[in-house]
Amino acid sequence: MKPLRIALTKGRLEKDTVSLLETMGYDCSEVRNKGRRLILPVGDGELEVVLAKAADVITYVEQGVCDLGVVGKDTILESGGSFFEVLDLGFGKCRFAVAGPKGSDFFEGYSAKTVASKYPKVARTFFESRGMDVRIIKIEGSVELAPLLGLAGAIVDIVETGSTLKENGLEVLETICPISARLIVNAAVMKLRKEEIEGLISQMESAMELEKEGQRCYSRSS
Ligand code: PRP
Repeated sequence: MKPLRIALTKGRLEKDTVSLLETMGYDCSEVRNKGRRLILPVGDGELEVVLAKAADVITYVEQGVCDLGVVGKDTILESGGSFFEVLDLGFGKCRFAVAGPKGSDFFEGYSAKTVASKYPKVARTFFESRGMDVRIIKIEGSVELAPLLGLAGAIVDIVETGSTLKENGLEVLETICPISARLIVNAAVMKLRKEEIEGLISQMESAMELEKEGQRCYSRSS
């Protein structure tokens, strides 16, 4: 049987995903010592890991060149796409929020409002749900700069610890929704390799339980 190919989001989610695979019993030494390689065998050839940027994880899974993917709910909400979202992996926890200068009255009044975001679709959906007419400007990174430079009155962005906002004189004005890493599966693979996928999902769920148990023991003894 050919290995299941799983696309992992590089960066923030990578460490926790590799730990989870190891808790599932897979040898991830090739991933840990990857150098510049981007396709790596895991375990005894049951899995193959592909390291990609978040939005590309969705593209690869949607197009069927990867069977599964691990990606943040933020990217899923922004990119959309047709695939199955089968498991909340419980790590990579953060939230989408509207943020602005401390004490800002962004939501008040009827004046024209501008928001900067790396996530224009999420921002548009949120303000539309509020019946607010807001101009949205797409920014690629460090979106906190936009209100500081006077480009926008507020931003829609990911908040994890809140320190980026704090260190730049900004604060959360409103939380939009929680975010965490999700396991996604290609639609055809979900049918064609159903048993293998279901096996992998339940293995993952057990590993998540084990990790939670480990964390509980650790916090009791520390
Ligand atoms: C994200 C987000 C914020 C920061 C929030 O950026 O866009 O800038 O993390 O984290 P905090 O609440 O813990 O401070 P990221 O580091 O992913 O890089 P980016 O600037 O390229 O978006």
